[in-house]
Amino acid sequence: MSLDFPLLGERVLLRPFAPGDAPAAHGIYGDPEVMRYVGAGEAATPDTTEQMIADYRRHQREHGFAFWAVIERSTGRLIGDAGLEVTRFGTELGYTLARDAWGRGLATEAAALCVEAAFGPLGLSRLVALADVENPASSRVLEKLGFRPDAAPDEIATDVGSPDADVPDADARSWASPPGTVIVYGRPHRRFVRDGPAPGRR
Ligand SMILES: CC(C)(COP(=O)(O)OP(=O)(O)OC[C@H]1O[C@@H](n2cnc3c(N)ncnc32)[C@H](O)[C@@H]1OP(=O)(O)O)[C@@H](O)C(=O)NCCC(=O)NCCS
Repeated sequence: MSLDFPLLGERVLLRPFAPGDAPAAHGIYGDPEVMRYVGAGEAATPDTTEQMIADYRRHQREHGFAFWAVIERSTGRLIGDAGLEVTRFGTELGYTLARDAWGRGLATEAAALCVEAAFGPLGLSRLVALADVENPASSRVLEKLGFRPDAAPDEIATDVGSPDADVPDADARSWASPPGTVIVYGRPHRRFVRDGPAPGRR
């Protein structure tokens, strides 16, 4: 089933990104502190911000979901993204907020709207998420949303470079890493999972 936008929370709403969001989005993706644990860990340029928005829009057309714009309802301001992306790990939940929006429970509220959409109208049965081991706020958001660590006891993590990159095996390096972690862009990430309601119980 397709989603009715916006997805409404108490303090934030979620809607698909539009090309005109690029300047506001760049105020967030261009901040090195915000981007430290996102992707390759580098601040975006104006061009890469535009590319990210184009990628989100393509993903929305292809899958019916994507990273969505998070709008603060009281101000109408774009304060970040939250959403779902198909990666080699499964359907992955992610979120990134502007620095001045941190610490008010807004990421948890935005991500909860994504989880509701995933297990409700989108009919997904499982979500995964990755959080850099040095980013405890992100792990905490996932714990508050009912995600649990996804530990595979004897797993050898692989540096995949980018979760959605098509990395040839010859280029992939294997790492002995703690159980339940995976190396992405050279950094260990904790893996989390949440299962949806059993079929017929939505
Ligand atoms: C991670 C991020 C999304 C959290 O956003 P937020 O709106 O501040 O999150 P919330 O307020 O909903 O929840 C954060 C939780 O982490 C906790 N927390 C924050 N910093 C922490 C720290 N250093 N150690 C442990 N817990 C921490 C908060 O206390 C809160 O938990 P609580 O409600 O039990 O008190 C935000 O910091 C961000 O956008 N960071 C940059 C992008 C990013 O790292 N995205 C995640 C990539 S995986």
